Amino acid sequence: MNTDSVHTEETTLDPQDWSSIRALGHQMLDDMFDYISSSAQRPAWKKPSPYAIASMQQPLPELPQDTAEVYEDFFTQVLPYNTNNLHPRFWGWVQGGGTATGMLADMLASAMNANVSLGDHMPMYVERQVIDWAKEMMGFPSTASGILVSGGSLANITALVVARNQFVKDVRKKGMQSISSQLIVYGSSETHNCVIKGIEVVGIGSDNFRKIPVDADYCIMPDELKRMIEEDKAAGHTPFCIIGNAGTVNTGAIDPLAELSTIAQENGCWFHVDGAFGAVPKILPEFQHKLRGIELADSVAFDYHKWLYVNYEVACVLIRDEQKHRDAFAISVSYLVHHERGLSAGPDAFSNYGMELSRGFKALKVWMSLKENGMQKYRQLVRQNIHQAQYLAGLVQLEPSLELVAEASLNIVCFRYVSPECNDEQLNRINKEILMRLHELGIAAPTYTFLDGKYVIRAAITNHRTRLTDLDQLVKAVIQLGNEVAAS
Ligand SMILES: Cc1ncc(COP(=O)(O)O)c(C=O)c1O
Repeated sequence: MNTDSVHTEETTLDPQDWSSIRALGHQMLDDMFDYISSSAQRPAWKKPSPYAIASMQQPLPELPQDTAEVYEDFFTQVLPYNTNNLHPRFWGWVQGGGTATGMLADMLASAMNANVSLGDHMPMYVERQVIDWAKEMMGFPSTASGILVSGGSLANITALVVARNQFVKDVRKKGMQSISSQLIVYGSSETHNCVIKGIEVVGIGSDNFRKIPVDADYCIMPDELKRMIEEDKAAGHTPFCIIGNAGTVNTGAIDPLAELSTIAQENGCWFHVDGAFGAVPKILPEFQHKLRGIELADSVAFDYHKWLYVNYEVACVLIRDEQKHRDAFAISVSYLVHHERGLSAGPDAFSNYGMELSRGFKALKVWMSLKENGMQKYRQLVRQNIHQAQYLAGLVQLEPSLELVAEASLNIVCFRYVSPECNDEQLNRINKEILMRLHELGIAAPTYTFLDGKYVIRAAITNHRTRLTDLDQLVKAVIQLGNEVAAS
């Protein structure tokens, strides 16, 4: 007999003693406010200690542990070794820094334990409100649809599923075998790898993604796109989707989106914009011209957790034609049927617009943040980051031992340490070493990329805590470390 079954006393996961969990909860909250407000006083990055790593290689716990002790384990083994994108000198990959209100909103959502899938309850309406606001930000019509997802990757994949399913009518039932001519997707060679993954996931295959060359500013070359479309047509293939980049991951380049939209229309293609972070300046009047075309797209993907600084994780995909969106995902099953009244009534189920059935209440932190700050504040912060990128690029250009490797047209600065005695191969090694030392010394956390074979230090500024003096420190440290490494 299973020994567990001899316990007949009824039990629950609720605390026996609410007053002690309340005290612990208040302690956690205080600790986290301290943690967020003191982010600048810690190193930009700290390597997880061997002890902390070993603490995550333990057997499955059989016996209960006191909650305060569990929290202590978190506090000593997990918290100190965070990615630390809260730090003012964190500029790695493209990560936003979160906010105190975002943290609180996540706590509230978790306390509600809301499952924002279907039914007549307020979290459903909150997400609908957030999506309506997203349409306003992106210039999409009010009749468009959308859904919140975990990140830009899932947002792009969701759009690709809709694009494919509306194009190949029988694909949901018959699969990709029902296609007689190979579908082809087009995007610049700078397109993010999550889009390529998406093309694989939807069964088109990455060989059928045409990497269109870019110009000196890393923007797609529309004439090359047109030429490749004609070539594919002549070969009997079916051009089906064009991806426009609103802010490439490497340099923040913005493709000529309006022109891509026209090419898509002329060729009967779906036009999707990956605007993970670079679609956000659509909220700035001065970016209306550069980002013109987002509002013409069939779909757009963008993140709240990057350049809108909302805590991880939350992104949005908007689809211009709600029916096409719904047709791609809705399935009618007896246990999910919408009712006229009662809990099973309410707005159309979100599960009709994406892959997930159970979904968390991500919308709450977006809703609370947008209300708390208002668009005026976001416009100020996004402008601030763009200005900071220009400032950093300016500092780099003033230094003979630094080279600005790409124009900083948005919020990304790619540069490297240079020395007349070193060739590109040596410089690649030196700059990689500089970057690792910057991290290990806890000075700053930019990351890197390769541009034309050059290893560059890449600062993506989606950080509301960065100040100009942080960028001064970065430049000073890169030069100092570069001199040390080059001399060694
Ligand atoms: C241009 C672009 N697209 C898509 C993504 C993927 O977004 P996420 O990390 O939110 O999945 C990124 C991430 O940096 C990105 O920069």
